[in-house]
Amino acid sequence: MQSKQRVLTGITTTGTPHLGNYLGALKPAVIASQQVDTDSFYFLADYHALIKCQDPQTVHRSGREIAAIWLALGLDTDKATFYRQSDIPEIPQLAWFLTCMTAKGMMNRAHAYKASVDENQRQSSVDLDQGISMGLYSYPILMAADILMFNAHHIPVGKDQIQHIEMCRDIAMRFNHTYGEHFVLPEAMVEEGEPKVLSGLDGRKMSKSYGNIIPLFAPADELRKLIFQITTNSLQPGEVKDPQTCTLFEIYSAFASHEETMVIRQAYANGIGWGEMKGQLFEYLNDYLSPARKRYDEIITDPAYIESELQKGAAKARAHSEPFMQRLRSAVGIMSLVAESGAKHHATKVKKELNPEAQAKADAGKAKAMAIAKQRADEDAQQLVMQVNELLKKIGASNNPQAAGEEALEALQTQINGAKKKAKKNLQQTFELLQQRLSS
Ligand code: TRP
Repeated sequence: MQSKQRVLTGITTTGTPHLGNYLGALKPAVIASQQVDTDSFYFLADYHALIKCQDPQTVHRSGREIAAIWLALGLDTDKATFYRQSDIPEIPQLAWFLTCMTAKGMMNRAHAYKASVDENQRQSSVDLDQGISMGLYSYPILMAADILMFNAHHIPVGKDQIQHIEMCRDIAMRFNHTYGEHFVLPEAMVEEGEPKVLSGLDGRKMSKSYGNIIPLFAPADELRKLIFQITTNSLQPGEVKDPQTCTLFEIYSAFASHEETMVIRQAYANGIGWGEMKGQLFEYLNDYLSPARKRYDEIITDPAYIESELQKGAAKARAHSEPFMQRLRSAVGIMSLVAESGAKHHATKVKKELNPEAQAKADAGKAKAMAIAKQRADEDAQQLVMQVNELLKKIGASNNPQAAGEEALEALQTQINGAKKKAKKNLQQTFELLQQRLSS
């Protein structure tokens, strides 16, 4: 029975993670993955990268860098499932199923798309869709597939992604309504209270699009250079300074302990000079980051190690995605035309030479038999789903659904042990389906 909460998040493999990404996403994710009551799924969103970046080398390099960063930060890949989106072929397959469940009108409201349309409008383009690919337009659906494939409960994301999680819920609900309960409805996990956005070199929010970032693992001399570029005001050494409006202080306090921060606060009151403060910030960050940066420098030169970690994660992820996709395929009606045992029987039968007339007759007979077998199989499947839905309804209505679910499984197991061949198979199937549904 799945009682653990699943946390899932992806990082698009374009660009270099910076200090803001570290505080806002990477650090909390690594901490969350150590919690005993959570199952974490972290992945490199390389299919998403293709939306923004058509330079193969950048996509490739960025994937390697970002993987190395996760590993250098100490992500425990035995505990967490750490994988590359493109290693899971079921994700784009699911994306198509979901595409067929998504209202176009909803996609028209997706803000990434709308922002591009607005930009075209601002530039008075004749074609408001100019330069907008279907990838950009429908990427919230791919994101929904990332999430729903693993039935994740919680999605740690920035505020800008909340709309996508809501769309994902909407799509999941529609699928569940059409084909039965298959998906958990995920929730966005956004930092409570004061949003932790870090300021960049120029005092605006640290962001790649502003060109004001400090890369997480910049070499020491570059780190120093960047810190000395941070904008400050023109107050002289000896003049009292306000820490609250100062980027240097903001970055320092985002990394330092409360006590360390208090010391610096006092230094501001005593009129510390900007040059000295920059030096202190550099020393502090350099000490803080250098152990992980050292690991990063080792890992990045060992692509075989990174690849083996990703393959390990892919195997773990596919242990979920393969059977789940199988189940979703049959839910929408895409499955073999013959029951498995029938197919095997057919394949091993010795071929007899027949005249054309007899052959035609035999073929017609076979087709009819197969149609009947398929109809039976469909009816059985339907019956099975109804039985299980009935059980699920009862379980859901009880005051302790978890216990009721376990009880129902136990009761079925007892019946299976006592049953005869045909009934046994049916009960066995009911058991398996119920178990699957209860755990998803
Ligand atoms: N679109 C997300 C971003 O730009 C990255 C992402 C892709 C993601 N798939 C996801 C995040 C699934 C959470 C869950 O930040």
